[in-house]
Amino acid sequence: MRLDKILQSQGFGSRKECQHLISRGLVEVDEKICLDAKQVFQTKGLEFKVSGHSYIYVEKVYIVLNKPQGYECSHQAVHHFSVYELLPQLFNVRGVQSIGRLDQDTTGLLLFSDDGQFIQALTHPKKHVGKQYLVNTIDPLTDDQLQQLQEGVVLRGEKGSFIAKDVKRLTENSCLMTVHQGVYHQVKRMIAAVGNKVSQLHRNKTGSFELPHDLKEGEWRYLSIDEIEQIKH
Ligand code: URA
Repeated sequence: MRLDKILQSQGFGSRKECQHLISRGLVEVDEKICLDAKQVFQTKGLEFKVSGHSYIYVEKVYIVLNKPQGYECSHQAVHHFSVYELLPQLFNVRGVQSIGRLDQDTTGLLLFSDDGQFIQALTHPKKHVGKQYLVNTIDPLTDDQLQQLQEGVVLRGEKGSFIAKDVKRLTENSCLMTVHQGVYHQVKRMIAAVGNKVSQLHRNKTGSFELPHDLKEGEWRYLSIDEIEQIKH
């Protein structure tokens, strides 16, 4: 692929902007400054530098973020920070987006990608990908409330009933539960529907993929090929 196209695909700007970076001598491949925007390189595993910073070509981006509180999953966050501020600007330019959304006060596992098929596979309602949450409540969770969650609750304005799977009490005021749909404020509304209130919400898992334990709040990393496969299946 041509060098200007490579840079553009990786989020360095428009074709013109990338050509400008090249003509200014800011782009190195194999430790040599390349001034020819039309020069062709094999993209697989290509390592290059822009303004002295090293990059590796990636066809698509797949990342996991440990979302902190106080961040909204929108680009134009109004009342809080945007989760996109936690990612390199290059990812925003190449159209990386969050896979589903978490409320500003929810923490934990949030995936991002610019692979439309991958995003669709995880968010399509018919795919029923399970999301596991650690739920803390204001009032103690009664056995009856946990039972109702497992039997299914009705949410105002939504069709059908919403069931919590694999419900496990942890303490008087906390439990684990898995939901398979993804309607607005789903967990908070389910907890409200049984007469309690969420005080803290944390997502642990999407499908069988667990938030990596070594990823601190606010940190992100690339998913490995094995992890991408695990999430897909
Ligand atoms: N359910 C909610 O209520 N909030 C979230 O952020 C995620 C699931």
